[in-house]
Amino acid sequence: MAEKKQLRVLGVESSCDETAAAIVENGRAILSSVIASQVDLHAQFGGVYPELASREHVKAIYATVNEALQQAHLQLKDLDGIAVTRGPGLAGSLVVGVNMAKGLAMAAELPIVGVNHLEGHIYSAWLHPAENAPGPEPKFPLIALLVSGGHTELILMRDHLQYQRLGGTVDDAAGEAFDKVARLLDLPYPGGPSIQKAGMEGNPKAFNFPKARLSEPYNFSFSGIKTAVLRTVEEFKSNKKELPVADLAASFQAAVVGALFEKTMAAGEEFKAREIIVAGGVSANKPLREAFRSQTSYRVHIPALSLCTDNAAMIAGAGYRHLVAGQVDALDFDVLPNWPLVAAG
Ligand code: KG4
Ligand code: ZN
Repeated sequence: MAEKKQLRVLGVESSCDETAAAIVENGRAILSSVIASQVDLHAQFGGVYPELASREHVKAIYATVNEALQQAHLQLKDLDGIAVTRGPGLAGSLVVGVNMAKGLAMAAELPIVGVNHLEGHIYSAWLHPAENAPGPEPKFPLIALLVSGGHTELILMRDHLQYQRLGGTVDDAAGEAFDKVARLLDLPYPGGPSIQKAGMEGNPKAFNFPKARLSEPYNFSFSGIKTAVLRTVEEFKSNKKELPVADLAASFQAAVVGALFEKTMAAGEEFKAREIIVAGGVSANKPLREAFRSQTSYRVHIPALSLCTDNAAMIAGAGYRHLVAGQVDALDFDVLPNWPLVAAG
């Protein structure tokens, strides 16, 4: 990218059920961030319905990008680059954002880079609204706990764009576990916020759900906790007793938060991390945020609530790092629905 003081990147995100566009300056200051959510539409199916998602993206993408430009009082010619989510995500949904971004890059002759959605979540820790002064930047080496609907990963970063995977879930992602347990408890989709709300009235110590025993120290498993909740629900139902939804929600949540917190702290210690980042949709969870804010001596970066779930500012933030490092994609790149943040091996 050009040697300018202010580099403005347009981010485009359409990997799942939010169509989003945002403009971020120098990888940190959010000039605009627009999200068209399909959550209400998918709620009737209890989860994301892929065919419907891609068609909704087609309907929303143009207006969303336009709105992001208007809110930032900018035109395409004022931008310095475009970043778009290339994967992981739903293929048909990713294609909509990628094609829009390519069209814009071609029309405005801007450099374009495809960004990994998970790296976007990590870079949300650098963002701040343009009207607020920036907070301190995360310092390396750091541990990033990435917890979303599709992923649970513990990552060591020694520098920008350098990711070493320490571990991750061997079965359900943390958000997926929240969504599945919410269904067991007849709570609405998405499950995370529903469980958090129901659990507010409950006792987190009412049920003691088992901790998974795993051979790898930084792996997670949530299916055992989910099965334990299922067994408890079945027991109450067969005894025709009223389900203690609030206690079950609070106890399940405490078990998941406990596992995430303990392993992240252990990784921080072993790898002598200076700071910790917690990101992804599940980082919106209040007890999780409280655990990381109050029980550690580390500086912990947790994005503002609006930046925890999917958005395009985080994609612009991550894209900026690639673009300043000279990493630009040719216009014929394809989407990567199963793109891991760190290649296996
Ligand atoms: O990052 P995200 O918006 O989309 C993915 O990339 O997956 O994460 C969505 C996930 C869902 O599973 C949702 O239930 C969970 O994040 N989530 C929460 C909360 N808010 C959203 N989980 C726990 N507590 C919350 N407050
Ligand atoms: Zn996400």
